[in-house]
Formats: sequence, structure tokens, C-alpha cells
Amino acid sequence: MSGMNREPARRRLLKFAALVPTSLGLSVGWAEAQQAMMPTASDMEGPYYIANTPVVDNLNRFGKPGEPMRIVGRVMNAASPDMPVAGARLELWQTDGRGRYHPEKKGNYRDFRDDEIDMRGTVIADSAGRFEVMSLFPKEYWPRPPHIHYWIRAEGFRPLVTQHYLDTGPSNRPHRTARVIRDQSPALYPAPTFYISPV
Ligand SMILES: [Fe+2]
Repeated sequence: MSGMNREPARRRLLKFAALVPTSLGLSVGWAEAQQAMMPTASDMEGPYYIANTPVVDNLNRFGKPGEPMRIVGRVMNAASPDMPVAGARLELWQTDGRGRYHPEKKGNYRDFRDDEIDMRGTVIADSAGRFEVMSLFPKEYWPRPPHIHYWIRAEGFRPLVTQHYLDTGPSNRPHRTARVIRDQSPALYPAPTFYISPV
């Protein structure tokens, strides 16, 4: 978020915090309220975005190697934090378990053979803003920790391009990480709740 936006955001947060006990109930904590008031920060698109990938329930379309992982997350309205963005369209792309993108190019789905497009896909959020898709734990590639790219669009909202990082231990823990839960099969990656801003 730019410096220009910081002060108004803080003022909005204070205003919102004053309303929390009456409007949302005491179960909403300070941190949650703070997160809810902030649109999710954008992050670099990176060099390998492919537009118009098909809707999938598994990003691993052609059996690439790696540890299976289920991604679950949510898309909410940054201006009204208890309001889901039903039907939000999320494009995800990431490496396979060996740290490779497929393809290692930028472009449009229609310009490739279908089987060249892997570890990518489009997912649609349900009426509660929730999305779920199978994938693999992405391998880090130097110097970056494991991460997943997201491009999120919804009618009436500003598009959000961002990345999210997966926690692999204390020596590799940037901000905005999530720890993958491995005591279930497949492993669960609780993706962040994304807050997107109305136009
Ligand atoms: Fe990347």
C-alpha cells in the first residue's frame, strides 16, 4: 500500500474498530478487523502469466510430480468485510514439485497446446466467496520461497494481482506466509482471505 493511502486507511480502521462491538459482534478481534479493513496488497505478476486458462478443480492437470495439496481460501469485499465476493474469478499459477512452471513463458492459453498448460487454472468462488482447488506443494526456486500467484477478478471490483508465500521454516519465512497442514491427506494449504476493493 502506498504512503498516500496509509493515513486514510488508519482513520477508516479506527472508525471501523469503534463499530465492531455493535455491528459485527465481540467475536471479531482487533487483528481480524484490521485485516478486514485493508485491501490485500498487490504483488509482482512475474514473467509466466498465461491468460484465459480453463476452469479446473486440480491445477495439476497432467500429473506433474510433487506433494498433493488442497488449496482453500476466500474472497471478500474490502469495503464491507463481512460480505463475500460471490463468483470471484481466481487465476492461479505456480511451480510443480520440482520448481518448474509449465510453460516457462507468458502468453495466452489459446496460443499453446492444451497439454503445455499445467500447474495453472481458473477457479470460481462460490456464493460465500470460498474457493477450493487441488494442487501440489510448489518448490522454491532461488532466491524465492515457495509461492503461488493469484490474479483475482470480479465484476464491480478492481483486479488484484498478488502472490502468497508458503512457510517452510524459520529460515525461510517472509511476510504473508501460510503453514501447510500435513496431518491430513492431502495436505491442506489454508490460502489467505483476499480482500478486494470495489471500483
Ligand atoms: Fe513465481
